[in-house]
Amino acid sequence: MGQGKGYGKTILFGEHFVVYGFKAIASAIGDCTKAKTEKGSKGKGIELVDNRPAVEGYKVKKQREINDSLDLIFKFLKIDLKKNPVKITLSGNLECASGIGASAALAASVARALNQDFNLGLNEEQINEVAYEGEKASAGNPSGIDNTASVFGGLLVFQKNLEGGKNLIERLSIKKPIEIVLANSKITQDTKEVVSDVKRFKEEDEERFQKILNEYQKVFDEGLKALKNYDLRKLGELMNKNQELLARATITCSTVEEMISIAKKEGAFGAKQTGTGRGGLVLCLTPGKELQEKVAEALEKKGFPVMKTVIGV
Ligand code: PMV
Repeated sequence: MGQGKGYGKTILFGEHFVVYGFKAIASAIGDCTKAKTEKGSKGKGIELVDNRPAVEGYKVKKQREINDSLDLIFKFLKIDLKKNPVKITLSGNLECASGIGASAALAASVARALNQDFNLGLNEEQINEVAYEGEKASAGNPSGIDNTASVFGGLLVFQKNLEGGKNLIERLSIKKPIEIVLANSKITQDTKEVVSDVKRFKEEDEERFQKILNEYQKVFDEGLKALKNYDLRKLGELMNKNQELLARATITCSTVEEMISIAKKEGAFGAKQTGTGRGGLVLCLTPGKELQEKVAEALEKKGFPVMKTVIGV
């Protein structure tokens, strides 16, 4: 038997732009997915029991992706399912939704459980490679930011190496965790689809996209500085700018914009989509328990489920 876990995550800066080699900042959150693997029944290959909490419709929409992800992981690890059928039970407190890194948390937890079950002797970096393989099912050619945050935890700067070499992973520490609200639009998006829409947007007008990327670079540099200096007002402003850039690249929707304005009206320092976007989750920067509660309550009243957590642990 093997057991493992993978954290959920939120992206503070740079989803989508990270696919084009730009630096991004992500933070793991405390909630996680747990996987247990054990000997399955002969001839059944992979038996999956998925007990993870999830927003309505998520598991149905993602079922194929979940199966593909597991297939990719087993192939990569060269585990012969004919000889070794495996039963996988997924659990944990991470509520699956678009933008929370649920697919990466699944891949990371299963990679860890199989490592233990089959005595594979993988180190953390290798676990991350396995999780990346699983992520290919949801993002096609993923940047790797989700699985990295899910495996390593904490707050980090990530940059994909477009030449195929090692990605840059820089751990960050801040003086005190920051309260956030993750509000759920209840819209589940397909990451592959949104990523390819962005690619199309780029190809239609390279100059326009380059301008957005250049502006993003400035937002990232200042955002990193604000985070390191613990200047949370500035950090919030820059998250708002990041959202404007995403919207200019067509990555938003009216529900998300409505949620962002509710959060800002209640005093959130900043609010943006996190992850795939055009739905999924909205990340609201709400330092202090009081502000966090106020913003969460207002969003909930309008029918958006919320998760109150912190970044930078
Ligand atoms: O929606 P999520 O949590 O899977 O995040 C996807 C992040 C993207 O930047 C849109 C894709 C990627 O591969 O980095």
